[in-house]
Amino acid sequence: MKNLPLAIDVVEAKTSKIDSVDFDNLVFGNVFTDHMMECDYIDGQWQNPVIKPYGPIQLDPSAKVFHYGQAIFEGMKAFKDDEDQVWLFRPMENIQRFNKSSKRLAIPEFPEDLFLEGLETLIDLDRDWVKKGFGTSLYIRPFVIATETGVSASPSKKYKFMIICSPAKAYYSGDVRVFFADKFSRAADGGVGYAKAAGNYGAQFYPTNLAKEEGYQQIVWTDANSHEYLEEAGTMNIFFRVGDKLLTAPTSDRILDGVTRKSVLTLAEEFGIEAEVRRIKVSEIVEAAEKGELKEIFGSGTAATINPVKGFGNKGKKYELPQLEDSYASFFKKKLMEIQYNKAEDKFGWRYLVKSN
Ligand SMILES: Cc1ncc(COP(=O)(O)O)c(C=O)c1O
Repeated sequence: MKNLPLAIDVVEAKTSKIDSVDFDNLVFGNVFTDHMMECDYIDGQWQNPVIKPYGPIQLDPSAKVFHYGQAIFEGMKAFKDDEDQVWLFRPMENIQRFNKSSKRLAIPEFPEDLFLEGLETLIDLDRDWVKKGFGTSLYIRPFVIATETGVSASPSKKYKFMIICSPAKAYYSGDVRVFFADKFSRAADGGVGYAKAAGNYGAQFYPTNLAKEEGYQQIVWTDANSHEYLEEAGTMNIFFRVGDKLLTAPTSDRILDGVTRKSVLTLAEEFGIEAEVRRIKVSEIVEAAEKGELKEIFGSGTAATINPVKGFGNKGKKYELPQLEDSYASFFKKKLMEIQYNKAEDKFGWRYLVKSN
C-alpha cells in the first residue's frame, strides 16, 4: 500500500512516569508508557499522525464505535537484547493483519510504512520502558475505532488510529486447562473470525466465564456447524502432539492467522518435527488421550509465546496430560525467544531492529 506524504509530529512528555512503576510486579496490560501515537481519519484521508504524552481521549457518546463495534486491534511485542538494542518480531505481519481486519470491518486501511515509522518512533522514544531480561518485553497495542458521531447504523466516516504500549514481565498463566466448545461458537463461515475485531473477544467472555466455573481457564473453539473440529483458543492458536507428530488446524475465515503459529510451523520444518496442518477431530484427540498417545496440547500467541496446557474437558469428562521433560512446547518457546532476544541466528529475517535517534 502506498504511503501518503505525511509527517509524524512528536510532542515529548515533560516528565516521565517511569520511576513510579514497579517493574517487578507488573500486571499484564495495566501500566502504559509515557507516549502514544494518534492519527485521525477525516474527509476521506488519514491526517498527520502525532506522537504525544499518553493520556485520555475525548469521544462523543454517539461515536459509532460505542454502538456498532467498528473497532479492530493488534498485539505485538518489543524485546531488548543484552546490548540494549530493541527489536520487534515480524512487525509487517501484524501491520498487514491490522489492515486485513480493518478491511473486513469497513475501516479504511492505514498506510503500512507510516504505521511502521510511527511504531518505530514511538518505541524509540519510550525505549527505557523496554526492560532487559528473558521473558520481559513491551506489549504493543495498535487499534482503530470509529469516531463519527450519530447513531445511524452505517460505516463511520471518521476514525482514530492509536498505538499504546505496556511493559510486560515474563508471562506465566498458571496451570491452563481447556474446555472443548460444544455449544457456543466463536466464529462462523463468512464471519469475522479471522479479523482481530474487538467484538470477537467481548463475545467470548460469557462462555469463558461458564467454563471457568467448571475449572477451565480457556475454551478451545470448535467449528460452529458441528462442534466436531478443533479450531483455536481465546487468544491463541492451538497445537496437539500425538505421538511425535504435531497437529494444528488450517487457518480459514474463522481462525486468526497467528504470527506465532506460522513461526512454530517454520521452526518445526527446520528442526525436522513432523507437523500436519489439517482439520482435527475432537474424537481423534479424545481417542489419542484415552490410548495415552496424546502427549501435549499447547497454545501459541504473542502474549505467552507458547502456553502449555495441562488438561482438557470434553462432554463432561476431564483428561490430564502427561508432564514431559522434553516437551515441544518448551522447545518452541526457547527457540522463538532466542530469536526474539537476539540470542540466536535469525535465519528467516524475523527480527526488526528499532533504530535509535
Ligand atoms: C483469536 C486469536 N487467535 C490466535 C492468536 C495468536 O496470534 P499471534 O501469534 O499473532 O499473537 C491471537 C492473538 O493475537 C488471537 O487473538
